[in-house]
Amino acid sequence: MLNIGALASGRGSNFQAIIDSIESGFLKAKIAVLISDNPEAYALQRAKKHGVETLVLHPKDFHDRDSYYSRIAKEFKTRNTGLVVLAGFMRVVGKSLTREFHNKIMNIHPAILPSFPGLHGQKQAVDYGVKISGCTVHFVDEGVDTGPVIIQAAVPAYHDDTEESLSERILTQEHKIFPLAIRLFSEGRLNVEGRKVVIKGIREDVFIINPPLLSP
Ligand code: GAR
Repeated sequence: MLNIGALASGRGSNFQAIIDSIESGFLKAKIAVLISDNPEAYALQRAKKHGVETLVLHPKDFHDRDSYYSRIAKEFKTRNTGLVVLAGFMRVVGKSLTREFHNKIMNIHPAILPSFPGLHGQKQAVDYGVKISGCTVHFVDEGVDTGPVIIQAAVPAYHDDTEESLSERILTQEHKIFPLAIRLFSEGRLNVEGRKVVIKGIREDVFIINPPLLSP
């Protein structure tokens, strides 16, 4: 069975979606540990409630980024982690982790990459005035949200959206595609070929929304 190592910095609703998918039987996996950089992260409470081991590691307690991410890699390796998930982890992960878990780290990002990478993807989309937004699950490489795309889901963006209203619409999709991407990984159905992720046995147009062009 797949052992998942999770990293989260805050609320942890994506982390909860993964827990729920495991508990409902959608995902055949186990969360070995949740590591957070923030002792106040609500994700830690969620983990404890569901019997998941937690660990708080703060970069300030390490002399550099390399030793911070080496330690995280070590904690995951000790627990036989086959996949690392960034469930709202608000840092760019270091090479000592990406090298150790090459194409075995997934991130959920609240935008259709490569648009609006980095922090506040939803606000960037609102400020830009796009008509379509959404979210992306991708493998993590050394850049900022630049790794191979696994799944994207689109939602409409409206002229009167606020960061909050758009975030909420996107989040509903995040909670669907993140567990799905993890499931496809656990079933060995994701093949990375250069920049492209080939998914075995799934139609690739399932995430395209197709609303009627005009209201009746
Ligand atoms: C989610 O919207 C996630 O996509 C985003 O932070 C939120 C975390 O919510 N991640 C990033 O912006 C990463 N750059 P959650 O803690 O409730 O899962």
